[in-house]
Amino acid sequence: MKSPLHVVILAAGKGTRMNSALPKVLHPVGGKPMLGHVLDTAAALKADAVHIVHGHGSKLIRTWFEGRDLGGQTKDPSIVWVLQGPQLGTGHAVQQGMAEIPDAATVLVLYGDVPLIRAETLAPAIAAGEKTLALVTATAANPKGYGRILRDKKDAVVGIVEENDASDAELRITEINTGFLAAPAKKLRGWLGRINNDNAKKEFYLTDVVALAVKDGMKVATVTASEEDTLGVNDRAQLAQLERLFQSRQAQLLMQKGLALRDPARFDLRGTLKFGQDCSADVGVVMEGDIELGHNVSIGPYVVLKDVKLGDNTRVESHSVLEGVVTGRDCRIGPFARIRPETRLADEVRVGNFVEVKKSTLGAESKANHLGYIGDATIGARVNVGAGVITVNYDGFNKHPTLIGDDAFVGSDTQLIAPVKVGARATIGAGSTITKDVPAGGLTICRARDQRTLPKWTRPSKKKP
Ligand code: UD1
Ligand code: CA
Repeated sequence: MKSPLHVVILAAGKGTRMNSALPKVLHPVGGKPMLGHVLDTAAALKADAVHIVHGHGSKLIRTWFEGRDLGGQTKDPSIVWVLQGPQLGTGHAVQQGMAEIPDAATVLVLYGDVPLIRAETLAPAIAAGEKTLALVTATAANPKGYGRILRDKKDAVVGIVEENDASDAELRITEINTGFLAAPAKKLRGWLGRINNDNAKKEFYLTDVVALAVKDGMKVATVTASEEDTLGVNDRAQLAQLERLFQSRQAQLLMQKGLALRDPARFDLRGTLKFGQDCSADVGVVMEGDIELGHNVSIGPYVVLKDVKLGDNTRVESHSVLEGVVTGRDCRIGPFARIRPETRLADEVRVGNFVEVKKSTLGAESKANHLGYIGDATIGARVNVGAGVITVNYDGFNKHPTLIGDDAFVGSDTQLIAPVKVGARATIGAGSTITKDVPAGGLTICRARDQRTLPKWTRPSKKKP
């Protein structure tokens, strides 16, 4: 029978070089904390339990975990929280992390700050780790800082030496320890009980279990990973490098599924994206949260989308910012539109430049083409909202609604002092300040009447000194 899989995630470190109030493992890659990626990998491996060794920023980590959004994609294995008091090294951390792991389990060690490792790469290490100690190694162009894999003449692994403890000859070895390993729980626990901190850093090294396994007559297995998959984050530059790597892999997958990206290097998705046929995104597009695009949706340059759902044939023109919006088909938005949460646009709606819409509904074929603020409004079908129209929805304390019936025409530069209702087919003359409900049909106008001309008037001129 296959033994149960228990994953230990090391996440206790402070991440001093990040210079951040946020614990390192909560720094995001692709909009998701690194620890979240590692938990996803554990879930993909169908781990029976995950033991998270945490220390620095423990409260923040637990708070994030409790409030996080799984996006309906993966379900967590059962989680065991292990608080590592003084952090005495990776060996000590795994030992603590194993406190509740049964002897019959296979243990896999992952790192909260190495988020791109793939389940496919780890699977053969886990399989080997049911019987023996299995290490994931990589060949590094620049092995500096990593533990080096020591092999004998027959190429069998005999140990790992840390950078600080290595001889000049050992420093030239390019096969490095990625840190990932798998082993039978009972054996690993035994070896961890025998390690000491007699080394340059005075730490209990997890890597010392390798020599102990060899001493016990075990043949240590190795699985090769690409260096890219095993990159860890110690500082902001490495975080940025990982982000780019993550984004470019994600962009490749999206293009394989049929998304047209004008330049995959200038596209960022920090969340999930579902899309129909023939959708495209121009350069500089940033998508966050959960995005859903119908068929033939086009997103112009430098558009920011967060948690939006756009209907078929909808076009968002450049420099628009949309959050929490659901649209029907054939909408035209922007350039330079800002649409805020809880907005619903029906089919063929047009929201043009410098128009802000908040928590409002626009019915089919309605238009607000230029300049304006539409907040807390419910607008019917085929309504024309002229240039510069403002719903005056806020009295300093409360927000008030505006209702506009079908086929109404709101003239330019009108202020609708909410709460207010405009009847169907009503026309409001330009420049009106509407303070009372407007009946259906007819023309309603509220404007200073006496337009005068003073023909002899002259412009003020500059006084001579
Ligand atoms: C470790 C390996 C090294 C390997 C490298 C890969 C050891 C001794 N060395 O070195 O061979 O090449 O990773 O990146 O294992 N942590 C705890 N508690 C502790 C100590 C560490 O949770 O008491 C966590 C850290 O937060 C970190 C991870 O374990 O996420 C690795 O520890 P770190 O000190 O960075 O190990 P390295 O020196 O990089
Ligand atoms: Ca490290």
